[in-house]
Amino acid sequence: MPIEIVRNDITKMRVDAIVNAANESLLGGGGVDGAIHRAAGPQLLEECRSLHGCKTGDAKITKGYDLPCKYVIHTVGPIWTDGLHGEEKLLRSCYQKSLQLAQEHGCTSIAFPLISSGVYGYPKDQALRVATDTIRDFLIRNTDDTDMLVYIVVFDKTSFKISGKLYAGIAEYIDDNYAFEHSDRRHRRIAQLESSRVFEDTLADCMCAPKEIGSLEEALGMIDESFASMVLRKIDEKGMTDPECYKKANLDRKLFSKLRKDNNYRPKKQTALALAIALELSLEETKELLMKAGYALSHSDKGDIIVEYFILNNMYNIFDKSDDFEGEI
Ligand code: APR
Repeated sequence: MPIEIVRNDITKMRVDAIVNAANESLLGGGGVDGAIHRAAGPQLLEECRSLHGCKTGDAKITKGYDLPCKYVIHTVGPIWTDGLHGEEKLLRSCYQKSLQLAQEHGCTSIAFPLISSGVYGYPKDQALRVATDTIRDFLIRNTDDTDMLVYIVVFDKTSFKISGKLYAGIAEYIDDNYAFEHSDRRHRRIAQLESSRVFEDTLADCMCAPKEIGSLEEALGMIDESFASMVLRKIDEKGMTDPECYKKANLDRKLFSKLRKDNNYRPKKQTALALAIALELSLEETKELLMKAGYALSHSDKGDIIVEYFILNNMYNIFDKSDDFEGEI
């Protein structure tokens, strides 16, 4: 996947470049800055001295020295005051400038900390949203052949809060739709029937000629349409390019070329769901696409119910809702 959020110590990451959340002096400090300088050794500070500082929002590159990476890209994030002093624009610039430097130096893998989200006080959930948005936009814009793997390295146990309305919405939707709280044998049997019923319903949905199909022949034609053909048809209908689609789905190019080449390509369920969300399909179209890959959204799977909730509410980018999104990473 082009963007991965991992929990790790960034000084341990074996990538081409790691990014340092520095200050304008570039002469070291606490937090991740201190950790990187300690792990890289004194030569890093020596080279930093020769750079004569770095402006907030800008980035400069040095070697990695004793670190397991070739380069360190030093960027200076904004100090959070209230979000009304251009903090987001400066934070975006940190990621953009760092990615540009990484690209100019031929890096194919880079690891970012959550810039400004420590001492500089940027709220972590907003910092994550800005990071994922900016990185994804950069990767989509740069559709050249070199696939860059980007890690967002979260160090401390960070939880992101859900805003009341979304939490209440999801909780209520799960209550209304979640088939069973605990699956014992009987429940598992019913759950199987339930998901096969869902499957039959889905099949029935598709067979009942959704509104945009005029005749039964066309409906049957749609059923014969393979998973791959439906994805490619939807890309055309949405006026997207392949890279825009697979990068928005956070899939890598190699996986997508399999779909392009093999009309009988069979994805994993989460790949099929990622493509449905990237293509911003309706719930009916999502069920149809899943069915072509042999899956169904099941009401005995909370994850499926949450995906259903997001699609029904036209929320096609979970990261955009990170200020509304709860998870522990
Ligand atoms: N690996 C990955 N992430 C880390 C590590 C580490 N070893 N250590 C800290 N972090 C995380 C923090 O948990 C935080 O989420 O990096 C994020 C950024 O925190 P800071 O390092 O405090 O950086 P920032 O908020 O941008 O403040 C920069 O702090 O250290 C000084 O010299 C630095 O003055 C500058 C200021």
